[in-house]
Amino acid sequence: PVAQDLAGVSVLISAGGTREPLDPVRYLGNRSSGKQGYALAQVAAARGAKVTLVSTVDLPAPEGVDVQRVETADQLRERVLGAAVDVIIMAAAVADFRPAKRESAKIKKTFDPAHPDDAPTITLVRNPDILAQAVQARGAAQWPVLVGFAAETGDAGHTVLEHARAKLARKGCDLLVANEVGEDITFGQDTSTVYLLRADGGPEITVGPADKREIAAAVLDAVGDLILVRRSV
Ligand code: C5P
Repeated sequence: PVAQDLAGVSVLISAGGTREPLDPVRYLGNRSSGKQGYALAQVAAARGAKVTLVSTVDLPAPEGVDVQRVETADQLRERVLGAAVDVIIMAAAVADFRPAKRESAKIKKTFDPAHPDDAPTITLVRNPDILAQAVQARGAAQWPVLVGFAAETGDAGHTVLEHARAKLARKGCDLLVANEVGEDITFGQDTSTVYLLRADGGPEITVGPADKREIAAAVLDAVGDLILVRRSV
């Protein structure tokens, strides 16, 4: 039997990469598998939480989880900002940009022999930062615990952890789950190592190398802790 430590807690989890349409048949997308979000949903539900999973991918629905399908960042934003929940976990890879215009008909190549290399130019516009907007939208009536994810690379000047600390401060969320990505440490692997960083000065925790289920459990432990801290204030 699994401890029901999240009983009575409502959680919204986003999963997968958003798809930003160019025309009725094409989109701009990314390689996010959605597996970490599904693992979070599965573990949270098993621990008693009421879970809504807003997903861009077609994976089997975890037991007891309400799955809502979306495609675009805009649709995801509506679900996230419209939710009245205790916890929001943004595991989705939200596209930073979308095509400025969604063509109503398929974009066609020309058959004009005088211009055999003609190709369209796609203009992009910025997508809203949903997590940042959720931080902004917090009010007295609804003050959810907000969790962000970050895929970081180290560079000459700063380590992954330093980049992650800066992102936590910039985003204003309560907990940031940061993992290192790079040429050898690719997306879609079965195990990874993550850092859990808390905005309240709580401990920085390293988890892994661990599979997505273990990482989910550690993230939810930290979320449970933050809920306890909040309730005791
Ligand atoms: O800044 P960066 O994209 O690395 O931040 C990642 C975190 O922010 C993730 O939790 C992701 O779901 C969220 N995000 C968002 N809206 C965006 C871009 C990222 O909510 N437009």
